[in-house]
Amino acid sequence: MSHPGPIGMFDSGIGGLSVLAAARSALPGESFVYLADQASFPYGPRSAAAVRVLSERAARVLLEEGAKVIVVACNTASAHALAHLRRTFDVPFVGLVPAVKPAALQTHSGVVAVLATEGTLGGALFHAVRREFANGVRVLELAANGLASAIERGGPWAAETEDLLAGYCGDVRRSGADVVVLGCTHYGFVRRRAQELLGDDVAILDTADAVARQLAHVVAEHRLAAPPGGPSAVRLLTTGSVGDLRRTVEALERAGGLPSLGAEYAEVRV
Ligand code: DGL
Repeated sequence: MSHPGPIGMFDSGIGGLSVLAAARSALPGESFVYLADQASFPYGPRSAAAVRVLSERAARVLLEEGAKVIVVACNTASAHALAHLRRTFDVPFVGLVPAVKPAALQTHSGVVAVLATEGTLGGALFHAVRREFANGVRVLELAANGLASAIERGGPWAAETEDLLAGYCGDVRRSGADVVVLGCTHYGFVRRRAQELLGDDVAILDTADAVARQLAHVVAEHRLAAPPGGPSAVRLLTTGSVGDLRRTVEALERAGGLPSLGAEYAEVRV
């Protein structure tokens, strides 16, 4: 059995495109439709109830586009809305949680740092994972306020992004952490720079590849693979300005932050 529909994904902005890139290389025969809810960016400081409402609305947009499975490509939305989405809709959902478990297994110093939005760090999902898997390990929670916004508005190369990132990397170094978990999809775009600032003795974990593997597993398990020889197109939707999104994506493609997506763009009114 196969399913010709696209794989849906959403985030508050461009962050989830780092997950889209990983998913495309894991599932090259699939088409994708991605919603950047830029009119509501950022999700990080919003209440759990507000993020649930926005996530439900995003899922409805993707279902109208024919999505056969939905990836919540945002840690904050996963923290507050994943359970609600699974209860509300019939399609399978794949969500994200900061990679605390592999970090706790990997640390030698006994200290790991988690960089995420305050929404993710305050959510029940993160606390459950931390309780279950990080026993005996010191977890430094860094609510990286402003970092996702700096990346969303100015790009990974902006001076504001660099200043904030340098500050957080300094906090990590002073803590003695030897593993850093990137707990927000936007941070995937500054991973290389963070590695330079932290040095090679600190490992950086992000979840994009693990999520892509989990997505491939869900697609196979539910017999949702696209029929062979299909179009494997990418459609990028935004609740904000389509011109701004296109400019940002093209700049990321040119800078090597994203592979060439060959995307088609559209604005959605919500
Ligand atoms: N990219 C989102 C995440 O993974 C958050 C950015 C925001 O605050 O909206 O958490």
